[in-house]
Amino acid sequence: MFVTFEGPEGSGKSTQIRLLFRALREAGYDVLLAREPGGTSIGDQIRDVLHDARNTEMHPAAEILLYSASRAQLVAQVIRPALAEGRIVLCDRFADSTMAYQGYGRGLDLGMLRQITEFATGGLIPNLTLLLDVDVEAGLARRRRGGDEWNRMDQQAIEFYERTRQGYLALAAAEPHRYIYIDGGGPVEAVATAIWDAVLPVLSSRHG
Ligand code: TMP
Repeated sequence: MFVTFEGPEGSGKSTQIRLLFRALREAGYDVLLAREPGGTSIGDQIRDVLHDARNTEMHPAAEILLYSASRAQLVAQVIRPALAEGRIVLCDRFADSTMAYQGYGRGLDLGMLRQITEFATGGLIPNLTLLLDVDVEAGLARRRRGGDEWNRMDQQAIEFYERTRQGYLALAAAEPHRYIYIDGGGPVEAVATAIWDAVLPVLSSRHG
């Protein structure tokens, strides 16, 4: 079972995915936590290039290929082997981030992005994707307060993040069987409960 967390900046997904990871482990599930970009030694090196705030000249084509290279390594080295062992894989961002940020945000052709993604992942699609949605201004403010790494992707115009958020909403609407919409704006415990209530029935039906 492959579950991904997606959402705009400051949606709280990294906090929430860690909470779900812990709760699933305590419930006895064999679960692995990964993140994008990164999650492997090679991927972490690519992440440094992607996130270095000095790399302002990065071309959108280079950007998509670097995210995809990190993803290809993560899928081959970590995700597929874990799924083959019957483990649950939770991933903080995956291919939908490329559709939302490089597609809707940067305006790259969605069809072309799908082809590149298919090549990078060998066609691996999450069984379940949780979209943690948050108002753009509120998310950016939360991120500034949170003290997380401030990176190249944090230096975009506000319109970029608005397009990205709208992109996520469009992606979720287009695939209602895969996506679960979660309002990420509430208190941490309430969001965690909403996620648990959404994920558990799907997991129980697959993993018992
Ligand atoms: P995060 O670790 O805070 O989620 O930051 C990852 C950043 O990279 C975030 O701004 C979204 C961006 N990103 C893309 O633009 N495309 C992608 O394919 C992925 C995985 C992330």
